Amino acid sequence: MEKILSPSILACDFLNLGKEIKKVELSGAKYIHIDVMDGVFVPNISFGMPIISSVRKITNLVLDVHLMITDPYRYIDEFVKCGADIITFHYESETHENIKKTIELIKKHNKKVGISVKPGTDIEEIYKYLYDVDMVLVMTVEPGFGGQSFNYDMIDKIEKLRKYITSHNLNIDIEVDGGINDKTIQLVSKAGANVFVLGTAFFGSKENISAEDILKKAINNE
Ligand code: DX5
Ligand code: ZN
Repeated sequence: MEKILSPSILACDFLNLGKEIKKVELSGAKYIHIDVMDGVFVPNISFGMPIISSVRKITNLVLDVHLMITDPYRYIDEFVKCGADIITFHYESETHENIKKTIELIKKHNKKVGISVKPGTDIEEIYKYLYDVDMVLVMTVEPGFGGQSFNYDMIDKIEKLRKYITSHNLNIDIEVDGGINDKTIQLVSKAGANVFVLGTAFFGSKENISAEDILKKAINNE
């Protein structure tokens, strides 16, 4: 599967958002990861629609929106309106019935749909949704904050999920998010992840980052 880099603007300098988006474009990354937090589903508040609309105006890169909010169904139309291309919401944030409805609504808008699981959630719990989603986001830290350390227990979870996807002939991206850097990317890539979110490791670096170089590192170990 294609390996894709998705820098997370949660770690960027918001005073210079335009420049930071340019940095993503210059790196050759294909996605921009946008973390929306409501202070209820996670103990932190980030940003919402106005930031996404502003980013949409200045780039054609894929906007990979990660919703860490309660009742995401209510806001799907709004996120589509402000320019999201991929909308990922949390399995833990909805009832089964609402998960189905949320997936259908995102698809009705012709957007890609992702479902995300926190580190403590068993991956088997989402198998029933795999026939309807484009991507699974496996959180490799507890959602809510950037700059945390990678949770190594998540390697087995990614392996298990990739095995299930392959053995059922499904075509689903596995995205990983939290503590991903040039070292941990090798482990998650080997385990079967193919979309890599980098917050601190991307925006914290003063050097010009090359997506190609990072992705090569990911593949080298395989
Ligand atoms: C955490 C967010 C991440 C965060 C990752 O809840 O979902 O996207 O920006 O940041 P790093 O790469 O610094 O762990
Ligand atoms: Zn995220």
